[in-house]
Amino acid sequence: MIAPHSVIRWSDALLVGIEFIDHDHQEAVEAINRMAAAARDGGEVLADLDVFRHHCAQHFSREEAMMHKVGFFAIAPHGEEHRRVLAELDDVLARLRAGGDCRDYFTDILPQWFLEHRATMDFVTADFAHERGWPDESPGDRGNAQGKQGRR
Ligand SMILES: [Fe+2]
Ligand SMILES: [Fe+2]
Repeated sequence: MIAPHSVIRWSDALLVGIEFIDHDHQEAVEAINRMAAAARDGGEVLADLDVFRHHCAQHFSREEAMMHKVGFFAIAPHGEEHRRVLAELDDVLARLRAGGDCRDYFTDILPQWFLEHRATMDFVTADFAHERGWPDESPGDRGNAQGKQGRR
């Protein structure tokens, strides 16, 4: 279900073709839209942001594990960007807990970051992983589907 005022409209154009990434990204888009709507209406976003920060940490770990496994050439900058955004989320959480107004973070900065990160680092990483034959058959890999995934 896409809310009429979503800041990000989920579509197949956002897929990178790696099942776990696309699954996580779709959940991220739903969370970002929910937080943006709440922030715009002056509602509560702290609890949702706390959950989103955890979701991001888990997602980044999964991407980084894949990068290591396929020998991705730009693992350092991609990992550094993940750490930077986690620190930024911690900073926004702290500002919200102190009663700050972070509305534009949810309506502009975070959605723009997601779209740009997906289109650059995640896209290049997924492309490289495909070329290296991801997913392989090793135990512990999440999922076994290849190619682009539609909506759940
Ligand atoms: Fe990602
Ligand atoms: Fe990433």
